[in-house]
Amino acid sequence: MCGIVGYIGKQQAVPILLDGLKKLEYRGYDSAGIAVLEESEIKLCKSLGRLAVLEEKLGQDFSAATCGVGHTRWATHGRPSDVNAHPHCDCTGKFAIVHNGIIENYIELKEWLAERGHHILSETDTEVLPHLLEHFYAGDLEEAVRLVTEKLRGAFAMAVLSYNHPQKLVAVRKDSPLIIGLGDEEYFIASDIPAILKYTRKTYILDDGEIAVLQEDGVRLMDFQGKPVHKEIYEVKWDAQAAEKGGYEHFMLKEIFEQPRALRDTLLSRLENDLVVLQEIDLTAEEIIHYQRVVIVACGTAYHAGLIGKTLIERWVRIPVEVDIASEFRYRSPLIDAQTLVIVISQSGETADTLAALREAKRHGARVIAVTNVVGSSIARDADDVLYTWAGLEIAVASTKAYITQLAAMVLLALFLAEAKGSLPEERIKEIVTALRQLPGQAQEVLDQAGLVRQLATVFQPAEDAFFIGRGLDWSVALEGALKLKEISYIHAEAYAAGELKHGTIALITKDTPVIALVTQHDVYEKTKSNIEEVKARDGWVIGMTYVGDQRLEKVADQVFYLPKTLSELAPILAVIPLQLLAYYVSIARGCDADKPRNLAKSVTVE
Ligand code: F6R
Repeated sequence: MCGIVGYIGKQQAVPILLDGLKKLEYRGYDSAGIAVLEESEIKLCKSLGRLAVLEEKLGQDFSAATCGVGHTRWATHGRPSDVNAHPHCDCTGKFAIVHNGIIENYIELKEWLAERGHHILSETDTEVLPHLLEHFYAGDLEEAVRLVTEKLRGAFAMAVLSYNHPQKLVAVRKDSPLIIGLGDEEYFIASDIPAILKYTRKTYILDDGEIAVLQEDGVRLMDFQGKPVHKEIYEVKWDAQAAEKGGYEHFMLKEIFEQPRALRDTLLSRLENDLVVLQEIDLTAEEIIHYQRVVIVACGTAYHAGLIGKTLIERWVRIPVEVDIASEFRYRSPLIDAQTLVIVISQSGETADTLAALREAKRHGARVIAVTNVVGSSIARDADDVLYTWAGLEIAVASTKAYITQLAAMVLLALFLAEAKGSLPEERIKEIVTALRQLPGQAQEVLDQAGLVRQLATVFQPAEDAFFIGRGLDWSVALEGALKLKEISYIHAEAYAAGELKHGTIALITKDTPVIALVTQHDVYEKTKSNIEEVKARDGWVIGMTYVGDQRLEKVADQVFYLPKTLSELAPILAVIPLQLLAYYVSIARGCDADKPRNLAKSVTVE
């Protein structure tokens, strides 16, 4: 949540800060601001609204500045407004700070500062930071920053600009991501790599409890006690092009169309002959046998991937699996121990709730496997083993290609555990592996039907409500389809276990309520078909989804979408694609911004 940038060097700072903020807008976009040092003065420009509003307000101002910080906000404390936008300054205007995270004890700090004569202008938790700095500053900026960190509870990544130290920026990280970019006599601060990739591939990924001091002659790292820290330079392998739209109107559409490639990268290198080989999981078959339970923890879309993981592991490995929402998990004294295998799923690897759940699981002695898309993320670093989803950089707020690769990872993990436990016959494993190899090509076949989905979207455009129904794995996919539609088109959408609809919710079905019925699970095919009939009997308008060659749904549904034939267990990987496309086209038809839906941010680094 919120994106931070900082620059110190010889170039004009403002274009670099704005460019970095553009790349970080996915982290929040309700207001933005920058602070620079120019003519021995801290100059500030902030504004409510998207970055474009700030850019316009700035015009050609501050063009002489070569050092500054910037911020794009997702409001947590204090509504989006000019005054609540970052950067925030102290009473004297000598310190400017941008912050990502939540200062949990900000109310008591505000009172403490007020007693000492400080005037806080905004409703934010952040504004206590520059005032604390003003209080502790006695000529040594790093020392003052260090003393401030001692007063804070909560999560904070921040960048500090000081009038007294015109050739210095200080960056601090605790529980919110922050990286330092190392250029040629120029240095950068950013919440995420895309913000600096145009300028350098060399980075330091700060760990919790670290401070970086950026000066013209280099970067020094230290811990919160002031002890020097030595760190390897992390060289980013992917290029800036990955962060561009490549001819698509939106990142979301580009990312949906990248799914065949993402599946290929995630799956194929892990399939050897007729087996799944996960070299990155350092567990022997003997160790795997000793696990009595699996617990999967994640949020949002990643949680929906976890639901599919549960069904697959229970079906193929025959051990009980619980799936928990990360923000609930740690507050209910979870029953986990050294016999529990915990799997956390997170695209960003930075979701605060998931990271906290991971740490809670480790505290109870559980082994934690992370499924994540971001190399070097906090979750990747804290887990015992990491299974990377090679989706590539995902920028659109609504997750698509990361989700599909999370599903692929669930299949891989379930098969890996089944192989170790000997719970599936070799022939069956071979059959699944063969079907897995076909998935990338089949995903492309589904994408080739985007035109049809676009037509179907016209039915949803005027709708106020929509339902997604299915049984078993289809229900889990339905949950993801409903979330996608809600988050980018603002249509109220709900997913129901198809058999549950008649226990109340069917009262909401009218002729204006589109219903998507997923019917890919052979064992419950007839049952779901009957549920479609129930909806039709109430005048609902139904799109059915089944496999090519199956004509049966045409008799009951208004429209049928056909998927290439695959195993029931792998169907979610194909079935979600038309649902993602549908959400996208409905969003566009309703005039919404599919890449930046209202009220949301991609990386949720606050609890
Ligand atoms: C929805 C979406 C979110 C994320 C959730 C977890 O499209 O993207 O629901 O799935 O915020 O994020 P990660 O996977 O980064 O932990």
